[in-house]
Formats: sequence, structure tokens, C-alpha cells
Amino acid sequence: MRTLVVGSGGREHALVWKLAQSKDIDKIYCAPGNGGICDIAECADIKAEDVGGLLDFALRQKIELTVVGPEAPLASGIVDKFNAKGIRIFGPTSAAAQIESSKVFMKSLMKRHNIPTADFEVFTSSASAKDYVKGLPASGGKHKFVVKADGLAAGKGVVVCTTKEEGLTAIDDIMEKKIFKDAGNKVIIEECLEGEEASIIAVTDGEDAVPLASAQDHKRVYDGDKGPNTGGMGAYSPAPAVSAETLGGIMKDIISPTIDAMLKEGIQYKGVLYAGLMLTASGPKVLEFNCRFGDPETQAILPRLKNDLVDLIDASIDDEIDLFSLEWDARPCVSVVVASGGYPGEYKTGFEIEGLEGLKRLKDVYIFHAGTKKAGDKFITSGGRVLNVTALGSDIKDAIYRCYNAVNLIEFEGMHFRRDIGYRALNRAKSGGNNG
Ligand code: AMP
Ligand code: GLY
Repeated sequence: MRTLVVGSGGREHALVWKLAQSKDIDKIYCAPGNGGICDIAECADIKAEDVGGLLDFALRQKIELTVVGPEAPLASGIVDKFNAKGIRIFGPTSAAAQIESSKVFMKSLMKRHNIPTADFEVFTSSASAKDYVKGLPASGGKHKFVVKADGLAAGKGVVVCTTKEEGLTAIDDIMEKKIFKDAGNKVIIEECLEGEEASIIAVTDGEDAVPLASAQDHKRVYDGDKGPNTGGMGAYSPAPAVSAETLGGIMKDIISPTIDAMLKEGIQYKGVLYAGLMLTASGPKVLEFNCRFGDPETQAILPRLKNDLVDLIDASIDDEIDLFSLEWDARPCVSVVVASGGYPGEYKTGFEIEGLEGLKRLKDVYIFHAGTKKAGDKFITSGGRVLNVTALGSDIKDAIYRCYNAVNLIEFEGMHFRRDIGYRALNRAKSGGNNG
């Protein structure tokens, strides 16, 4: 089978790597891909957002299966357009992708169907949003609330506020200065939830769903969850905070009701449904839904998946998820993001990455490239998040140890990474808790 993977990050490298092991695949293209992906797939210089260009390419190259990484092409209807031409593609239609592309759509759907999430209000003018913030009562002498742009903002449209001033500034930025353009035509202001975060990524055919192994991301740039939010600085799987019982509850109370709710409202949701959750004292609540695989969670999940990924994708497309059972490597997996100096703020690129060759000898260590490109036989940095260094281990401590041993072999100018990826799972293991 001839396959096309759309995207250029660490998630797409992990998808291409896993698909390359499938019994059904003879040829993989990736558009646009990155330096690492080019080693195992043929990269085509078409941007992930260029749905027309991707469609022409797929027709020309007789692509038989397309797998989409990022949300933007899903939101702008790549699945609808490929389906209209009879090209097999894995993912939600543009109507279904609204679960990620419009937070107002997502929150209203959850409210109508009693799916657990933070209490919220929607605002269509900055004046009314500001009045609301000014009138918010303090709790225990403190303020804590969250301002969110309605539309896609590359993961940056959420501001957790601890003062009214922060809230007013966020509203100004989003609704008046339009820093996320039309994504800021509406805002949501919601209750701040407390607890531990976890990601559950399910694959669905629109009726039934199977969860992938749980994972936990680390969104803040510095150790101890300090500093600004990023696209994700590392992940591990499984997330021991999600016991088998908790996972059962998440499927029953959140994932299945969401898919059913969409169906009742006339939208069949197919593909990946990613729930970003807060595990609160009163149970798991939805922070966000994404219509795609998580990044960097996918890099920590796929090395543990024993099934052929194409079989899972086929089950989603062909409405056979109810017959599907997933098998996992019991060993935990840790993936650390190595980023360019300055990320998530401004950073320079174009530096040579050293040490990659030596990593090839390490067993159960995988390097998924994100912002890299190839120059001759060298790799150079070309983005904010550069590499995802990933390792399996006999337990979480061993996985962390093996992962950082690999990270320490890599060098490029200005590189930085968090040194505490997996700390929550490690603390839990030390205190004798469930190790997933
Ligand atoms: P999102 O892009 O919606 O996942 O939000 C990014 C991050 O903001 C989440 O991973 C949380 O850390 C935080 N966040 C979002 N909504 C809330 C909330 N209601 N309460 C507390 N933290 C939140
Ligand atoms: N890991 C967060 C995301 O994929 O949106």
C-alpha cells in the first residue's frame, strides 16, 4: 500500500516509524516531513496546510491511505476533500474537527450532554468579557480563572490567570489586538480546575472507541512545571495517575458520551479523539479535546504499541473498532524534547546536531526528529522543538535513566531540555503507588 503522512513534527516521525513496520505498507511519503523522517520516507515539499496541494499529490502518486498529524488540515476539511475523491484517509471531517477548532462548539456540546468539564461562559465582545472578569468574586482572597481564545491558536490561546489584571490583558490581546487573528473573535472564561493532568487518546469509528495507553505531557518550559507553556517538553506512558478504573470511567463518562453526542447532533466522529483531562478531586474533567494524535504523547505511546498501526486505522475507517483489541508492551516509555535555545520564545536555527550516530547503537532508544533538516549527511536544527529522545525501560526509573543517558550524548549550540520528565510517575513509584 502507498501511504502519505501529513505533518513535520516528532509526532509524524513516530507515526512514519510505526507505519514503516506495517505488513501492509510498501511505500511511505511524508509532506512536508523533516530531516529524520526523510531517512525512512520520501518527503514531499508541500505544507501541511496546503490541502489542495496534498490532494493533487495524493492523486498523482496514487496514495491509498493518508494519515494526518496536525489539526489545521483536519479543521480545513482535508478528510472531506479526500473522501470526495475516494481516497482513503484517517481522521475526522471538518465538522467533526470542530471539537478542537472551536472551543465554543466543544464546551457547548459538553454542556448540552452533561459531559464533565470546567464551568464556563462565552463572550463575543471584549467589553462584556472584561465586565465579567471585573465582577468575578475572589475565592479564599485569590483569583484563579482561565481565558481561552475560541479558535485554533497553535496551543497558545489559553491563559491561566491569577489576577483580574492578567485576565483583562489576556482579553485585550485576544479580542482587541487579535494576536491569534479570528481565533479571538470569541473567548471563553472558565473555572480553573485543580489536579493532575493526563491525556487519553482514543481511536473511534464514530460509534465505538478504544483508548490508547495513557500518557502525561509536560507543557511548561522549565523543571517543576515553571515558566511559559510550550507545545510540550516531554511525555511518558503509561500515566500511573490513570488507573484501569479511572480509564474505564473516562471511557464511560467522557469519550463514549462525546462520540454519541456528536452522532446525535448529526456528526459521525471518526479518527483520533484526544481528551486533555484534569484529574480533579471530583473525578476527571475535560480541559480540551483535540481531533488528532497528541504531540509529544504519541512519541511515548507508539513504541509501546504491539499492534500493526494500519490495522487500527483500518478498523476506524471501516467501522470495526468494536472488534479491535490493543496490545501493549508493559514497559514504560519516556520521551524528552530537546529544544533550541530561547524556545518557546525567539530562537536561532541552523546549528549542526552532533552525537546522533552514536545513539543508533542504543537498544530500545528512538530519536524522533521535530525541527531538523538534512544538509548532506548532517542534521541541522530548523525549529523550536528539535528532537524527541525516547527510551523504553524495565520500570519508570530505568526508562528515565536510559532516556537521559541518550539525551546527554546529543549536542547542539544553545540546546535546552527539562531534566525532570516523568517526575510525577517516579514520585508515585517511590511512594509505592500504582506504576501502571
Ligand atoms: P489547552 O490548550 O486547552 O489544553 O490548555 C493548555 C493548558 O492550560 C492545559 O494543559 C492546562 O495546563 C491549562 N488549562 C486549560 N484549561 C484549564 C482549566 N480550566 N483549569 C486549569 N488549567 C487549565
Ligand atoms: N500534547 C498536547 C497536544 O498535543 O496538544
